[in-house]
Amino acid sequence: MSKRVLSGIQPTSDSFHLGNYLGAVKQWVALQADHDAFYCIVDLHALTVETDPKLMRQRTLASAAQLLALGLTPDKCTLFVQSQVPQHNQLGWIMECLAGFGEASRMTQFKDKSQKSGADRTVVGLFTYPMLQAADILLYQAHYVPVGEDQRQHIELTRDLAGRFNNRYGQTFQVPDAYIMKEGAKIQDLQEPSAKMSKSSGSGAGVIELMDAPEINIKKIKSAVTDTGREVKFDEKEKAGISNLLTIHSQLSGTLISDLEQRFEGKGYGDFKGEVAEVVVDYFAPIRKRALELLEDESALLKLLAEGAEKARAVASETISQTYKNLGLVQ
Ligand code: AMP
Ligand code: TRP
Repeated sequence: MSKRVLSGIQPTSDSFHLGNYLGAVKQWVALQADHDAFYCIVDLHALTVETDPKLMRQRTLASAAQLLALGLTPDKCTLFVQSQVPQHNQLGWIMECLAGFGEASRMTQFKDKSQKSGADRTVVGLFTYPMLQAADILLYQAHYVPVGEDQRQHIELTRDLAGRFNNRYGQTFQVPDAYIMKEGAKIQDLQEPSAKMSKSSGSGAGVIELMDAPEINIKKIKSAVTDTGREVKFDEKEKAGISNLLTIHSQLSGTLISDLEQRFEGKGYGDFKGEVAEVVVDYFAPIRKRALELLEDESALLKLLAEGAEKARAVASETISQTYKNLGLVQ
C-alpha cells in the first residue's frame, strides 16, 4: 500500500502566493503521483479571522480552481473541503482534551497572530487552531505532511498528541512526519526580505499573487529590495533579497543556483530581476488562465469537491469509530 499524505491550505484570499506554491503545493503535486494523497481546503481554520460569507464561498471555490490548475488531479488525489467532513470537528475536540494549555500557549503562530490583533480581538478558535490541524492530519493516518517551514511546530505538536493518545489508549494513530523541502520552504517578502512572504503582510507589494495580472507581478519583481552590492550570489545573511530571487528562479526554472550565479557573473541586478520576472510570469500565465476557466463552471467544481468529501468521510469515519471505541465512548 502506498503511504498516505495529507495537507491543508486556508481559503483566506483570492489568490495563493508564491510562498504557498513553492513551500507547499508544488510538493502536493509531486507527491500525488506515488502516494495516497488527501488535500483539504481548511475553511474551518479560516474562520479564526473575521470572514465575509460571500468572500468565504468565493475564495473556497477559487482555492479549488487554483489547486487543480496548479496540477492536482482528482484521479490521483482526494481534494475536499474541511467543513464537508464533520469528523474533523469530532476529532478536534478530542485533541483539545489531550493538549495541555501550556503546550498550546507555546505555539509561535498563535503568539504572533494574537499579539498582532490584541487579546480582545483574538478568538478562542485561534488558540485551539493547532488541535484542529492535528485532527485534520490524524484522521487520515497520514505518514507525511507537506508544508512550509512555518508549520513545523504544528506538525511537531501533532506528533506529540498522536504519541500521547497511542500510549494512553492503545495504538490508534499513525505518527506523521513533516515533509519540508530544503529549498523553497521559506520564501521571503520581496519588499522585506527578512520576513516571510505572507498574505497578511502590510502593503502586499512584496507578495507575488499567482492570480494577479503579469504586469503587476513583473513590476513587483523589478522593484524587489536587494542590497548595495552588485554580485548575484546566494548569501542569505548579506544578500537576503538576491538569495530569495535566486531560490524563486531556481525552483521554477529547475536551474541550479550555482549555474545562475555563474550565468549572471558581471551582470547587474537589473538583468537578473528581469529574467526572474520572465520566469515567474511564463510559469504562472497558463495556470492563471486555467484557474479562471475552471471557476466559470461552478457546478463542476462543486461536484468534484462533493466527491472528494465522500472519499474523505469514508476514511475519517473509520478513524473516528476506532478512536471513540478506544476511548470507551459507548456507541
Ligand atoms: P496558509 O496560507 O497559511 O494556509 O499556508 C499554506 C501553505 O503554504 C503552508 O504549508 C505554509 O507552510 C506554506 N507557506 C505559507 N507561506 C510560505 C512562505 N512564505 N514560504 C514557504 N511556504 C509558505
Ligand atoms: N495551518 C496550516 C497553514 O496555515 C493549514 C492547515 C490546516 C494544515 N490543517 C492542516 C496544513 C493540516 C497541513 C495539514 O498553512
